[in-house]
Amino acid sequence: MRILSILLTLVVAVSSNTHTNNWAVIVSTSRFWFNYRHQANALSMYRTVKRLGIPDSQIILMLADDAACNPRNAFPGTVYNNADRALDLYSNNIEVDYRGYEVTVDTFLRVLTDKVDTTTPRSKRLLTDEHSNVFIYLTGHGGNEFLKFQDAEEVSAFDIADAFAQMHAMKRYSEILFMIDTCQANTMYSKFYSPNVLAIGSSEFEESSYSHHADSDVGVAVIDRFTYYNLEFLEQVERKSSLTMQDLVDSYDYVKIHSHAGVRTDLYNQNLSDVLITDFFGNVQAVEIDNDEDDEDDDDE
Ligand SMILES: *[C@@H]1O[C@H](CO)[C@@H](O)[C@H](O)[C@H]1NC(C)=O
Repeated sequence: MRILSILLTLVVAVSSNTHTNNWAVIVSTSRFWFNYRHQANALSMYRTVKRLGIPDSQIILMLADDAACNPRNAFPGTVYNNADRALDLYSNNIEVDYRGYEVTVDTFLRVLTDKVDTTTPRSKRLLTDEHSNVFIYLTGHGGNEFLKFQDAEEVSAFDIADAFAQMHAMKRYSEILFMIDTCQANTMYSKFYSPNVLAIGSSEFEESSYSHHADSDVGVAVIDRFTYYNLEFLEQVERKSSLTMQDLVDSYDYVKIHSHAGVRTDLYNQNLSDVLITDFFGNVQAVEIDNDEDDEDDDDE
C-alpha cells in the first residue's frame, strides 16, 4: 500500500507539469461599432494561437458582435488591428463558435465547466482533460472585479474563480493561462484559488486600459495597448521558439502600455523562465491518435 501510494504520488507529481493538448477560449464581450477594437483584440489572439498550431477544433471563439458585417464598416467583411490594414483578421477560415447574443455570462461559464446543453455540437465544447493547457483570453469593458457582457450583464471575479475551481475538481485542465484586457483587469484574477493558474491582466485596480490607435477611415480605435504589445511580442514566436512566459512578462512596459500590467503567479508552481510561450499559445507536437481532429468543420456528431 505504502509503495503504491508513493508511486501514485510520483505519477501525479510528474503529470501535473506535463500537458498533452492545448485549448484556447477567446472572448470579446462588447457590442456596438465603437468597440470594434475588442473584436480586433480577440481575433488577433485567435490568429496567433492558430498560427502557432492550435486547431479550430480546440479553440472556442466567442464574439459578442460582428464588426465585419456592421453597416458602418467602410471595409465590409473585414476586421483590422492596425491602421496600416495589412492583415485582415476576418479573411480566412474564421470559425466563430458563439456570436452576438449567444455570448452571455451563462454561456461562457458553461463552456468552461462543460455544463452545456446535450445538443451542443462538439466543436462548441471545451473538451479538455487533466492534460490540457488552456489559454483563456477576455476583452471588453470592465471595472473592479467585473467584466461586462453585451452591456447587459456582468461576470464577476468570483464567478470565474468558482468556474476554475469546478474545472479543477472535474479534472478539466493541467494548467490555465488567464489573460484579460479591460479596465481594472487585474482585479478579475484576484479571487482565483485553484492550483496551476497563471493570470495576467492589462491594468490595476482603478486604472483604465487604453486603446492603442485609431484608423481614421474605419473611424474608431482598432486595437488596445496591452493586447497590441502582447501581439508585438508574440509575432516573434514560432512553433519551436524557446521564448518563455518570463520573456513575455519582462516585455511589459508601462511607458508603452500606459497601465500597469499585472501577473499573478502564487497559484502557479513553475518558474516562468521554464515555461515556453508555446506551452499555452501553441499546440503539443505529439504523435497521437486524436479522434477530435476530424470534426473540425463538422457539427453533426
Ligand atoms: C527562475 O529561473 C531563473 C533562470 O534559471 C532564475 O534566474 C531565477 O532566480 C528563478 N526564479 C525563481 C523565483 O526561482
